Amino acid sequence: MNDIQHLIRKYNVPGPRYTSYPTVPFWKNDSLQLTEWEATLQQNRASFLSSAMSLYIHLPFCEQLCTFCGCHKRITKNHQKEIPYIKSLKKEWILYKELFEFTPIIKELHLGGGTPTFFTPENLVELVKNIFNSTTVDPAKHELSFEAHPMFMKQAHSEQLFDFGFRRLSIGIQDYDTLVQKAIHRHQPFEKVKEIHRYALKLGYESISHDLVYGLPKQQLKGFETTIQKTIELLPHRIALYGYAHVPWIKGNGQRGFDEKDIPQDAEKRELYEMASEKLLQAGYISIGMDHFALPSDPMALAMRDKKLHRNFMGYTTQETPLLIGLGMSAISDSWFGFAQNEKSLEGYKNRLKEGKLPIQRGHILSEEDKGIRKYVLSLMCHFQMNWGETSSEKYKSDIRSRLKEMVSDELIRELPYGFQLTEKGIPFVRNACMAFDTYLHEAGQSEKPLFSKTI
Ligand SMILES: C[S@@+](CC[C@H](N)C(=O)[O-])C[C@H]1O[C@@H](n2cnc3c(N)ncnc32)[C@H](O)[C@@H]1O
Ligand code: SF4
Repeated sequence: MNDIQHLIRKYNVPGPRYTSYPTVPFWKNDSLQLTEWEATLQQNRASFLSSAMSLYIHLPFCEQLCTFCGCHKRITKNHQKEIPYIKSLKKEWILYKELFEFTPIIKELHLGGGTPTFFTPENLVELVKNIFNSTTVDPAKHELSFEAHPMFMKQAHSEQLFDFGFRRLSIGIQDYDTLVQKAIHRHQPFEKVKEIHRYALKLGYESISHDLVYGLPKQQLKGFETTIQKTIELLPHRIALYGYAHVPWIKGNGQRGFDEKDIPQDAEKRELYEMASEKLLQAGYISIGMDHFALPSDPMALAMRDKKLHRNFMGYTTQETPLLIGLGMSAISDSWFGFAQNEKSLEGYKNRLKEGKLPIQRGHILSEEDKGIRKYVLSLMCHFQMNWGETSSEKYKSDIRSRLKEMVSDELIRELPYGFQLTEKGIPFVRNACMAFDTYLHEAGQSEKPLFSKTI
């Protein structure tokens, strides 16, 4: 067994992806009171007034279930659902505006899903128009992006959203190998993606991103290599290369349509990543954070160079804003002082809004200690290093040293006078490093219940 295989065997354990700290399973407030969430917004009011915010809109419907999918989605072919859902989103936005008592400035807006392009272009444009009606900003001067499923979108989506000011598009691909596509129940020819990609470029989209997933059932090195070659042929500005998160215990995600024996494990899975990463780097891409690649001129690569890269519930982003509001079923908001997640069921979400209340269900109010650790985890995830802040006690620091001892002796991380830095060899193990800092994970010990996918 070579060194990397040995390390994978040792460190490939279930662990969070750290899009937040504390991570969702350790949030303390199972039924967060609206007043508590509102109080966190008031606490950060000065920052909101002086800076712009991020808005995430969750559009949960998909026409077909992809059996690998871990997102919050609703499978339906009934497009009558579009208008009532949009009405709920508008109502939720009105409730937030009443709460803010000032005109919000939106810096970035992302339509995510589910499948945003399930909605007609007219409905999507009407929704974002309604949102921007109440702000003083020009939509074209801001980062507006949307996710698209190539098989469930029309040219009119690209056209009408572009005319409104959208310049970023993220296309879900996963893998072009037909055997894999069959296993994940997602038929999607390369020619179709090519057509959408080239058309978006022609219209003037400035950043096109492709989502790929390694570690999918039936995926093999040769087939995935072809997928990477085809991706390079189109040269998207960004590539998200996600490790398949196998979390079949999460209710309703439908990860059961294939044989578990067909899922590549451990070293085999890592090999898929290494091959893809090598090919992308050779093609001129820069590796960003844990699972992203970007062309050197893309704002994400520049943000990484300038140490401005940020990570939130949307994944890696190019800018940090003091407030992220998530609208829609299951969407998560972040006021830095607290997190709040909306009702996860469509019915629950709509019913709360009918009662005239913000549909938040659960959340977490961050303690001073949480905020300090959150900075460390963010810094590790974005820059592969962390510097100690003033708030950490000597006891916490010494606990971290002892938890990282093995990783230090395996040369995955090194201690610096002011903190820790992952080595080149340690970068694939960044989630393991973050786990050492995670007080909640530590206090919980070995849970009987599976909570997270594996780290590698
Ligand atoms: C909301 S979908 C993208 C838009 C659209 N629904 C589609 O599938 O084309 C978000 C992305 O999350 C990633 N994803 C979903 N489930 C995943 C899983 N179990 N493990 C890793 N990545 C996953 C996929 O790459 C997918 O494209
Ligand atoms: S991968 Fe996209 S289209 Fe497929 S089920 Fe998930 S959200 Fe829907």
